[in-house]
Amino acid sequence: MPPAIILKGVTKRFRKNKKEFTAVDNISLEIPRGKIFGLLGPNGAGKTTTISMICTLLTPTKGKILLEGIDVTKDTLEARKRIGLVFQETTLDLELTGRQNLDFHARLFKIDNRKRKVDEALELVGLTKDADVTVRQYSGGMKRRLEISRAIIHEPAMILLDEPTLGLDPVSRRGIWEYINMLIERKNVTVLLTTHYLEEAERLCSRIAIIDKGKVVVQGTPEALKAKIGNDIIILSLKRDDPKLAARLREMKGVKRVVRENGDLFLYVKDVDKTIVPLMKLFSEAQVSGLQIKRPSLDDVFFHYTGHKYEDAAEPERKVNA
Ligand SMILES: Nc1ncnc2c1ncn2[C@@H]1O[C@H](COP(=O)(O)OP(=O)(O)O)[C@@H](O)[C@H]1O
Ligand SMILES: [Mg+2]
Repeated sequence: MPPAIILKGVTKRFRKNKKEFTAVDNISLEIPRGKIFGLLGPNGAGKTTTISMICTLLTPTKGKILLEGIDVTKDTLEARKRIGLVFQETTLDLELTGRQNLDFHARLFKIDNRKRKVDEALELVGLTKDADVTVRQYSGGMKRRLEISRAIIHEPAMILLDEPTLGLDPVSRRGIWEYINMLIERKNVTVLLTTHYLEEAERLCSRIAIIDKGKVVVQGTPEALKAKIGNDIIILSLKRDDPKLAARLREMKGVKRVVRENGDLFLYVKDVDKTIVPLMKLFSEAQVSGLQIKRPSLDDVFFHYTGHKYEDAAEPERKVNA
């Protein structure tokens, strides 16, 4: 069986401020079936644009997208049947109840056994009790759960979620993770989600692709990505930027890489226990004001591959011209 989703050299260009702008730049990905795959990247990285091309709302400028082997630009209807979609902005009818929202959707898709399917979907996301309350009274987390349940009603092979927990509080966010995990266990679907939350990608996804400025920077399992850049990081806060010290540290045994950033030195080391004592001998109290040890996170993976910090990479929130 072909993978759930294949992207081959997918590119999307827009005209932005009268100039040609490449929002998605030659992305190639293979997304296996039955797992949660995450597209992780800061605001403006090109996540929504990528999802929009996969779900056929946008046409790629270049490249090819296959869903279970079906070319989305050639066989758009067949491709669409395979997708359940949850978009960044809510598209629920606030005046209807949860159940009515799902029922309306089920009618649109001409689904058999509508009542049973709606009940099942509500149950899956824990909304049975609140099914007959108008959506206006739902919390943000409940609305998201309802949207997820709506996306699975026509039993698609894959669910695309664009920033499923954007703007939710940490507790609701965990709740959504649980339901997404349950989808994978109970429905045997493929989930492709985008997120700019590092923790979300780390906790939820079995594979991730990190994207920045429209390009895939690196991909793999979160564990493998972290392991690849070194096992531990020692951060030395310097009183003064000191290129000479950096050069000496680079020569040390067990040090894989030294990066200077705003007066801090980041040492990527194989084994912190073996490095720390010889390291201490290399500098004096006069040079260093602080020392921190840390296991690499996806934040560090991002920094390692892009050369800039994750938070700095985000575009400023776009101004909406009302
Ligand atoms: N319709 C459009 N016209 C022009 N530029 C766009 C359009 N849609 C998105 N962009 C630009 O493409 C880039 C990627 O946007 P987007 O895919 O929404 O990023 P993300 O979802 O990762 O935050 C941004 O710089 C955005 O301003
Ligand atoms: Mg987006």
